[in-house]
Amino acid sequence: MIGRLNHIAIAVPDLTAATALYRDTLGAKVSAPIAQPEHGVTVVFVELSNTKVELLHPLGDKSPIAGFLERNPAGGIHHVCYEVADILAARDKLRADGARVLGDGEPKIGAHGLPVLFLHPKDFYGTLVEIEQTAAAAA
Ligand code: CO
Repeated sequence: MIGRLNHIAIAVPDLTAATALYRDTLGAKVSAPIAQPEHGVTVVFVELSNTKVELLHPLGDKSPIAGFLERNPAGGIHHVCYEVADILAARDKLRADGARVLGDGEPKIGAHGLPVLFLHPKDFYGTLVEIEQTAAAAA
């Protein structure tokens, strides 16, 4: 059901330092910081040849990653995102197999302008999982 790994999201306490680490030490291509107030984060995209890493930093008072950084002050992997061809079919299959879909279960438009859902980390070995419906996964 799942297709490619779309991205790994890493919450970081210092976006400038994390960007420099990926750009200068690891030699990766990194974007400028992009504020996404509707998602409560500022993101730096790290472009790899086969996937992306997204460096996330809280933006605003109600950031969904603020609590994560309080529990993990040095930063950490926040979620992984897998591509699916049909997000509603994926949701229904996951639910039928006992996985918990977060929120009201209706896909939201995510950081890439595509429908996403999040799955409970306790059902995926301690890892928050995002699924994203992409045209590539449907092809
Ligand atoms: Co994501």
